[in-house]
Amino acid sequence: MTLLITNADIVNADSRFTADILCEGGSITRIDRGIAPPSGAEVIDATGKHVFPGFIDPHTHIYLPFMGTFSKDDYETGTKAALVGGTTTIFEMVCPSRSMSPAEGFALWRAQAEGKACCDYAFHMGVTRFDADAAAQLREIVAAGVGSFKVFLAYKGAFGVDDAELWQTLSLAKELGVIVTAHCENETLVAELQKQLLADGRTGTDAHHDSRPPAVEAEGVHHLTTFAQLTGAHVYIVHLSCREALEAAIAARSRGVKVFVETLIQYLLLDKTWAERPAFEGAKYVMSPPLRDASNQEVLWNGLASGLVSTVGTDHAPFDFVGQKPMGKDDFTKIPNGIPAIEDRINLLWTRGVKTGRLSLEQFVAVASTNAAKIFDLWPRKGVIQPGADADLVVYDPSYRGTISARTQTQAVDYNAFEGMAIEGRPSVVTVRGEVAVRDGRFCGTVGRGRFLERTPMHR
Ligand code: URP
Ligand code: ZN
Ligand code: ZN
Repeated sequence: MTLLITNADIVNADSRFTADILCEGGSITRIDRGIAPPSGAEVIDATGKHVFPGFIDPHTHIYLPFMGTFSKDDYETGTKAALVGGTTTIFEMVCPSRSMSPAEGFALWRAQAEGKACCDYAFHMGVTRFDADAAAQLREIVAAGVGSFKVFLAYKGAFGVDDAELWQTLSLAKELGVIVTAHCENETLVAELQKQLLADGRTGTDAHHDSRPPAVEAEGVHHLTTFAQLTGAHVYIVHLSCREALEAAIAARSRGVKVFVETLIQYLLLDKTWAERPAFEGAKYVMSPPLRDASNQEVLWNGLASGLVSTVGTDHAPFDFVGQKPMGKDDFTKIPNGIPAIEDRINLLWTRGVKTGRLSLEQFVAVASTNAAKIFDLWPRKGVIQPGADADLVVYDPSYRGTISARTQTQAVDYNAFEGMAIEGRPSVVTVRGEVAVRDGRFCGTVGRGRFLERTPMHR
């Protein structure tokens, strides 16, 4: 498979220039001006478009048994949706229940993805309990190419680990050079606030954010980073939503803790009033940490522009509005948590971030692709356009105008949280290791082409 992209306005996180890109055998083999097309090559003229390295979503739940149900996408629909939106690599959270061993969890998630994934994928290995058996299995899982763990300080009685388990997980991670991603909310505070709200008759969707105020998240960040400071492990805070939590992360950094921060497209664009919508519509916007007061959005945008926040993910966790969200009709604590976004992250970040001048083109590439590749040990295979890198490319059309709608989406869920929002650009061509997988909004790739990405942990 040989592909030549001509007249490409190539945008990397640290450079921008015009050239042709030759892709052979799945890799970028040459970048130059005036490359003659090899015989049999497909030629794509990128005049008037930008060419970005394939975007990386650092946080997805394509397969997620959670709160008594399962997230709606499977690896085929979820990764097709990712590709249509320009995402060519996903980091999936492997979230075994506490009754499952890490080895069983790893095998189960691999089986879900194999033969179905249309884009490449890597795993953050969820550590939902820790004992000698788990430790031995985690070592094997790291040896098999998983370079990051995931812990939950939230979800009491489900995925959450206690403090001794957290200490042991971080100590093992430090020894192995593995970075630990973490959901930072104090589970005891959440449980007590939930009880109080329900006792006061607050059963609706608007109570969700009151059960998880910013202080609960800031405590979680402080908690995690204190353990990181004392174990020396490197940590990555997933789905950071508010000023208080960011300040706790910055304070940890000033104490010498190696901590990275991810925010989500949901927190940048939506605020808590969406979760207060009447007739249970707010359930579409119930996720944890919850959507915040709108004043936090500027803080997060500034965090991205200044480098305090490294990545924008989706935490894609799709649950239908009909049939799944109503599990919590009479009790907000039972609403399956999650807002799908895998398909729209890039177009929204482009429209609301780059077009508004909040982010430069290079910063856009950094926070949506390169930084995740670097933090999670995939760079320079992913996250950059240069010879030797995988030929994951997004030819992006800035003249496209469209509107987001569930009616036209690829992801397999019955609503879109960004319904009706305008987008001012979209990928016109997306490639997966040199194969064209998307043309003008439609998937045209190969189901099952996506590969599990083995990584060597570098966080020592
Ligand atoms: O509400 C959320 N975030 N759902 C997905 C699970 C998680 O906490 O990441
Ligand atoms: Zn989480
Ligand atoms: Zn998540």
